[in-house]
Amino acid sequence: MNEPIKKIAVLTSGGDAPGMNAAIRAVVRACTYYRIECIGVYRGYQGLIEGDFESLSARHVSNIINKGGTILKSARSLEFKTKEGREKAYKNLKEAGIGAIIVIGGDGTFTGGLKFINEFNFPLVGIPCTIDNDIYGTDNTIGYDTALNTVVDVIDKIRDTASSHNRLFFIEVMGRDAGFIALNTGIGAGAEEILIPEKDLGLDRLVESLNKSRERGKTSSIVVVSEGDKIGKSVFELADYINENFPDYDIRVSVLGHMQRGGSPSCFDRVLASRLGVAAVEELLDKSTGIMVGFTNKKISKVPLDKAIKMNNDINKELLKVAEITSV
Ligand code: F6P
Repeated sequence: MNEPIKKIAVLTSGGDAPGMNAAIRAVVRACTYYRIECIGVYRGYQGLIEGDFESLSARHVSNIINKGGTILKSARSLEFKTKEGREKAYKNLKEAGIGAIIVIGGDGTFTGGLKFINEFNFPLVGIPCTIDNDIYGTDNTIGYDTALNTVVDVIDKIRDTASSHNRLFFIEVMGRDAGFIALNTGIGAGAEEILIPEKDLGLDRLVESLNKSRERGKTSSIVVVSEGDKIGKSVFELADYINENFPDYDIRVSVLGHMQRGGSPSCFDRVLASRLGVAAVEELLDKSTGIMVGFTNKKISKVPLDKAIKMNNDINKELLKVAEITSV
């Protein structure tokens, strides 16, 4: 990267998350501040392949910091997984005079970005944005905090009806292969049990735990199940199995689904997105590439993209203990 960068492209890719718009806004405004043109790419990598570009001024991103979703739209592009697709994308970037790109998203977004760098040596920086919090090298991904609050809010509501009817609820939350949403919302919403992929509780332990809850006089229960949990094939099969063991229990299942990805971002996510957006532009101006900007121990951090994708954040053992102790 010898010539100074005159244009930086920005795209959002993969599953959307609250705070994506705040991150786009910060990137656009940092570009304006440093007198660089910012080019918005629509529909993630697919828009890169199709040349779906628009020059964005600071005013284009007014009034979006509080909005969920992404004004640039998002997609999971299959074509970008092919060499031909990536070649088209590179050609479009070159023709538009774009010198670097910022990709906002999660695991899949960074995997595509890394391939692109390796093939074309094109300067690229990633911003972690997914509700799953499954990216290594940052304490929080943008959108995770908002999703936690959304889920806790819903579980609180389910608890009202669970306790009115003396029911046992299985509540499935998102997170793909990671249990961060389940563990934290389970503790925050006072669940009796929390099932996560990182720790195989086993069906027997679950039955034992529900038996104990009954002995302790609990008349209703909430079990939070991460979608990636391996204990049952699905939350419905799990509920059926428990029903066979507790035929007198009135059991219901609630799959929270995509509502967890929507809504206005929390203040934490807005501030995080603003900081990471500015940091990403500054890193590119400092000639960094192949990295993700993150937030570790209350400070902006950076980590190579391949590490961010391949390494796992460990589940906090102290949280597991707290979940066990506080559910007695
Ligand atoms: O990665 C975010 C996420 O919401 C996961 O929690 C979930 O497994 C997945 O995306 C759902 O993807 P889709 O929107 O393609 O159904």
